[in-house]
Amino acid sequence: MSVYQATASAPVNIACIKYWGKRDTKLILPTNSSLSVTLDQDHLRSTTTSRADPSFEKDRLWLNGQEEEIKEGGRLATCIKEVKRLRREVEEKNPNEPKLSTYAVHIASKNNFPTAAGLASSASGFAALVSSLAALYALPASPSQLSLIARQGSGSACRSLFGGYVAWEMGSSPDGSDSLAIEVAPQSHWPDIHALICVVSDDKKGTSSTSGMQRTVETSTLLQHRIKHVVPERMKAIKEAILVRDFDSFARITMQDSNQFHAVALDTDPPIFYMNDVSRSIIALIVEYNRVSIENGGKIKAAYTYDAGPNAVIYAPKENLKEIISLIVKYFPQAEPFKDPFGLFGAQGVGSGAVV
Ligand code: DP6
Repeated sequence: MSVYQATASAPVNIACIKYWGKRDTKLILPTNSSLSVTLDQDHLRSTTTSRADPSFEKDRLWLNGQEEEIKEGGRLATCIKEVKRLRREVEEKNPNEPKLSTYAVHIASKNNFPTAAGLASSASGFAALVSSLAALYALPASPSQLSLIARQGSGSACRSLFGGYVAWEMGSSPDGSDSLAIEVAPQSHWPDIHALICVVSDDKKGTSSTSGMQRTVETSTLLQHRIKHVVPERMKAIKEAILVRDFDSFARITMQDSNQFHAVALDTDPPIFYMNDVSRSIIALIVEYNRVSIENGGKIKAAYTYDAGPNAVIYAPKENLKEIISLIVKYFPQAEPFKDPFGLFGAQGVGSGAVV
């Protein structure tokens, strides 16, 4: 008897241009395009194994060993249904293929970092889930095609189908067929950029991205300005910065966009605060670090960015990492380098992490 099983892994991605707001909540179509860097495969990632078997009675999923309900019509069910639909197309074209689309699947996924700590676990989780099902079904689909499905699990997940520098183009089609991830440049194009993750808190976050961003869409006037007049220009400029490996521009845009994302969170009614005092102190440290460098005729040396939580991600060229880590340790004496399973990690190649 054949065993139909496949395992796939997907890393976390951290946005430089933030996705915040949906124009269609069911299909998960965003109000603006976004751009991120996918972290190194070895570090923050989700690993998912899927198995299809005629003896399984229903689709089931375990996350870090705990069974999760697959709610009808929910995001998990939608992703599984969409991948099965692609499998059915393969079976219709090749009648000799086993009818795996008719079997139920059992899916087991684990993260090597705390779930929902503002460390984008849904992004790597849905990307790994869709990748493992695509491998199980031997789908002839490109990462961009798979990103259309992962997007319906969690918007930011579509970007974790690629490594390196990735854009999620918002698209304009009402059915979402052009709202997908594309590779701007592979990791090998600019391997010098590293990500230092500072875990300020690994508590589960207060306001989820999903509900927070909808409140912003409903109540923030600043968001309307952002999506019409700010993001389109920034998307162009940051892609260009990546293509010519211009860290100065990349860093400025990344910090501006993080600031504006937190400004639209504050402009939401009631306001949403994701950063805390430690987050803001890290911003002050990076601002000062860059100011001193520029004053001495140098360039920007590091960029901070914050998602829907207090944890900092610092992007920097490799040569500056040691200095940044020693600054963090100096100003946050309680900071400890990550212990396993976190290890020391970075966006590309070696980097480092700290619990602040
Ligand atoms: C601040 O992708 O988690 O990290 O689509 O509702 O699942 P849903 O939201 P999610 O939002 C991520 C928001 C962000 C910015 C980003 O990653 O672009």
